[in-house]
Amino acid sequence: MLREDLPLRTNTMQHKPALYQEIIHALQPKRGGRYVDGTLGAGGHARGILEACAPDGQLLGLDVDPQALALARKNLAPYEGRIHLAQASYTTITKQLADLQWDSVDGILFDLGASSMQFDNAERGFSFMHDGPLDMRFGPQALMSAEQIVNGYDEKELAELIFRYGEDRDSRKIAKAIVINRPLRTTRELVAVIERASPRRGDRVHPATQTFQALRIAVNNELASVQEMLPQAVAGLKSGGRCAVISFHSLEDRIVKDFFREQSKELVNPLYERIYEVERKAVVKLINKKPILPSEEEIKENPRARSAKLRVVEKI
Ligand SMILES: C[S@@+](CC[C@H](N)C(=O)[O-])C[C@H]1O[C@@H](n2cnc3c(N)ncnc32)[C@H](O)[C@@H]1O
Repeated sequence: MLREDLPLRTNTMQHKPALYQEIIHALQPKRGGRYVDGTLGAGGHARGILEACAPDGQLLGLDVDPQALALARKNLAPYEGRIHLAQASYTTITKQLADLQWDSVDGILFDLGASSMQFDNAERGFSFMHDGPLDMRFGPQALMSAEQIVNGYDEKELAELIFRYGEDRDSRKIAKAIVINRPLRTTRELVAVIERASPRRGDRVHPATQTFQALRIAVNNELASVQEMLPQAVAGLKSGGRCAVISFHSLEDRIVKDFFREQSKELVNPLYERIYEVERKAVVKLINKKPILPSEEEIKENPRARSAKLRVVEKI
């Protein structure tokens, strides 16, 4: 089955978001606690957190997508008075906490990537299953659209982008075909070019999957944003507070894994034989050494959750 050729589900309140129970279990929201959802989407996880920290726990929700924010505002209306929503990037989390005069918080969640709502809206251009403009911007902060990259990068730059962010072995062939067939304006036009350049009969994954992933990462500067956000999130936690991150592809997961590992180690500097100076104590403790994955049951219910990986740390 093609990756996106799956029963369509909208990320509204009709179904639970990825690893929902696991997130509530990981963050253990409590009365009076303060929480951040850095990727609010439709507010599914946020609602779970708000329920669990009732009656007086509070939540700051961020999303760069004005459409997501409007939907979350509607969905979270019953929690008015306990929520603070901002159209902002999670890379500004330190500033957002300062604006609320919150020194530190009890839990922070990031559910990275695009929401089902974004995938399923053809106009956003995220999905190779729908015909729409080559956009792929999460929000207005994105520097350029996918169309500008596809029609503006030279062949070498395109090949590098598809290789680095899509890990596609046919990156050169695809880049060459794109350049020959430009200008390309729609997802369908791009898909047709990729299918001709890189036919993969019998493969489970559609040949456009990796190029679309690569473009989305580049358009939204996703990997650099995760790198920028992680230290701010850990710095913003109270002692005993937890940070939970769900990622959907290995490039993102590697950044999260490496950062959490590094922060969980004591940094020592050998002064001379057998004497060490501790330069930095461990900042966090890993709650799970291996990533938490969705259950078979969840994958059956929501096939898009199948590549989700959850990592959780606790501030020391
Ligand atoms: C997988 S969805 C989150 C779904 C959400 N957990 C729920 O329960 O509905 C990811 C969301 O993160 C948002 N997003 C992507 N990059 C962001 C960034 N740099 N800062 C804030 N939000 C971002 C996307 O717009 C999208 O709405």
